[in-house]
Amino acid sequence: MFTRETLLHNLHTHILGKKIFVFDTIDSTNTCAKVLAEINIENGTIVIAEYQTEGRGRLGRSWISDHGKNLLFSIVIKPPIHRSRVGFLPLYTAVSVAQALESYLNIHVECKWPNDILINNKKCCGILLESSFQTDILRYAILGIGINVNQDRFNEELFETATSLKRELNTSIDRVALFQHIVCYLDGNYILLENNDFATIVERWIKRAPMMGNEVTIIHGNEQTTGIAEGIDSQGGLIVRCQDGVKIFYAGDVSIRSSKR
Ligand code: BTN
Repeated sequence: MFTRETLLHNLHTHILGKKIFVFDTIDSTNTCAKVLAEINIENGTIVIAEYQTEGRGRLGRSWISDHGKNLLFSIVIKPPIHRSRVGFLPLYTAVSVAQALESYLNIHVECKWPNDILINNKKCCGILLESSFQTDILRYAILGIGINVNQDRFNEELFETATSLKRELNTSIDRVALFQHIVCYLDGNYILLENNDFATIVERWIKRAPMMGNEVTIIHGNEQTTGIAEGIDSQGGLIVRCQDGVKIFYAGDVSIRSSKR
């Protein structure tokens, strides 16, 4: 079981993780973080749980995770960025988690737009970003991070597409140390948000995104579009060259079809 003491022990950060709320069971760490953000909890506050009864994923999906095996946490951040730049927050989060996984586990990970992290083409981490604005400036964002760490089995629906770090590495991972690594990378990269240095975030993200330059299919609502992923636009959207011109996506699910993969 996580404790505040172990999670904070030797955690040397500037902004993130100065305050941390630890739960065994909660509905959703994102829902809790949102309530705290609404009462103006300090920048960098983290909510972490061993189990969620109503874990939420993107596009109204649920996030299912065994008790005591994974990392389920949400961080309240308050960089004063413009509404038009909020699309970079998933990329900032994904890059930071990817850097932490690479450095702590010495593995190769890939980023899939907008905010999945894959190992060997299977998803090991999902990110749910929720935000609130005052006029056009970000009031707070909740970075909800779910990582399949020591999960052994996945249900039939997820079996083909999901994995855990333990499954990929054949060994159990120390969740506290990994959590601290991730928080340190998010904390180190936070300055990029403060400085509006989205170019560096995109550069680090693209380095880990094999979909760039390849054919992708984007499903958004009832629409399906196929084209070549060409880059990230000035708002964090995905630029896709289709037969009938260039389109930019700000939401959706991407599948990648490529001979290079
Ligand atoms: C996705 O890929 O659909 C995003 C999944 C995000 C799951 C995490 S787990 C911690 C936090 N609390 C939630 O309810 N969701 C996020």
